Order: sequence, then structure tokens, then C-alpha cells
Amino acid sequence: MKKKILITGATDGIGLETARRLYAVGHTLLLHGRNREKLAAVEGELADSDSAGQIYTYTADLSRLAEVKQLAESIARAHDQLDVIINNAGVLKAPDTVTRDGLDVRFAVNTVAPYLLTQRLLPILAPDARIVNLSSAAQSPVELDALVGKKRFMDDMAAYAQSKLALTMWTKALAEADSSSGHIIVAVNPGSLLGSKMVKEGFGIAG
Ligand SMILES: NC(=O)c1ccc[n+]([C@@H]2O[C@H](COP(=O)([O-])OP(=O)(O)OC[C@H]3O[C@@H](n4cnc5c(N)ncnc54)[C@H](OP(=O)(O)O)[C@@H]3O)[C@@H](O)[C@H]2O)c1
Repeated sequence: MKKKILITGATDGIGLETARRLYAVGHTLLLHGRNREKLAAVEGELADSDSAGQIYTYTADLSRLAEVKQLAESIARAHDQLDVIINNAGVLKAPDTVTRDGLDVRFAVNTVAPYLLTQRLLPILAPDARIVNLSSAAQSPVELDALVGKKRFMDDMAAYAQSKLALTMWTKALAEADSSSGHIIVAVNPGSLLGSKMVKEGFGIAG
């Protein structure tokens, strides 16, 4: 059955490849990106391919919580029902590690943004919807001071690993809280050191 699927961070790496594959088999995609030009290029590429699906695009910088809320509102206004949310957008290194909201950018984009987006889209999820959160093998205990922006990180990987365990933890908590629904809510590790932009920037490894 054809699904309506939201993919965040669909402009590069794993999100882009996922979009290509899901669109090729006829699913309708809500593609999110932060960069309008990259998003338009992805839309153009997919629209040129043969598919029975439709494409909707949404721009938002997920390091800004106000934009995350606007994104959720725009999606909920335009769509009665969503079948799948793939919270894929993620960051390891960034030029500015502290966001406008005073959070570490890894916690903002990798942990808080997908939580806010998911919470706000729960009302339009199909009864058998899936939520797939891209976590990582990199996981380390979460320092609450760092999560709320009171402690700063000197090490990108430490911030990333904490943000991914925090994502995994809220995924599990939401799955338990939502267990009476037919939803399936999971955190997945897509593999390690897949040669995407993040891995090239972080480790100098090309795909
Ligand atoms: N690659 C791996 O080996 C690996 C391993 C474990 C987990 N993961 C996870 O898999 C997911 C995808 O990673 P990837 O390797 O495909 O990374 P990537 O190639 O760097 O792609 C990341 C995507 O997230 C978007 N993004 C980053 N910061 C954003 C922000 N502030 N607002 C909105 N969008 C933002 C990027 O947008 P732009 O195109 O504008 O940059 C891009 O579309 C991430 O959650 C990552 O942590 C990856």
C-alpha cells in the first residue's frame, strides 16, 4: 500500500538516498530540508523520475525551535494523515555549536527537534503509523546540564553521542507511553561510518 512519508534532512546522505528509494516505488513524500536550493534540486531530480507518488517540500532550520513548530504546523495544516515519520536530519559538527535558543546544536537538531516535531504531528498519524528515529552506535550518558544548555561541550563527538542516547531514550519512552495505539516507534542505527557528508566532515572518510 502506498504511504505518505515525512523525511527530515532529505537533501543529503541517508535521507536523500531514502527519498530516492521510497519515491521510486510510488510513495508520496514530504521532503524536509534547511536549504531551499538543495531541496529544490532534490525535488527536481525526483520529479524527473518515474513514480506514482507526489512530492511536497518543507524548509526549516531544525536548530531553531520556532522553525520546528512552524514546520509541524505547516504539515498538519496541509495533510489530514501521515503514515511514516523518518526523523533523519542530524548534525555532528557545526560552525556555531550554540543555537539561538541557547542549546547545543547537537541536542537541538538530533534530540529536541525530532521530539517536538513528532509530538506535534501525533494527532495526524495514521492508526498504524511508524516513527523511525535515526540514532547511532555513538551513545553516551546524558548530562542534564548539557542538555539544557548550561554546560558547553569541547568535543563534537561527546555532544553527538549524548544527543543520540537522549534521542534513543525519548523514543523508548514515547513508544511505552503510546503502547495502546497501533503505532510503531523505533530508534535505529543505520550503520557506522557510512560515507555521507557528516562522516566526511567528521572523520575525513569518503563514501
Ligand atoms: N553516516 C553515518 O555513518 C551515520 C551513522 C549513524 C547515524 N547516522 C545518522 O543518520 C542521519 C543522517 O546522517 P547522514 O550521514 O546522512 O548525514 P548528512 O549527509 O550530513 O545529512 C544530514 C541531513 O540533515 C540535514 N540537517 C543538518 N542540520 C540541519 C538543521 N540544522 N536543520 C535542518 N536540517 C539539517 C542536512 O541538511 P543539509 O543538506 O542542508 O546539510 C542533511 O539533509 C543523522 O541523524 C546521523 O546522525 C549516520
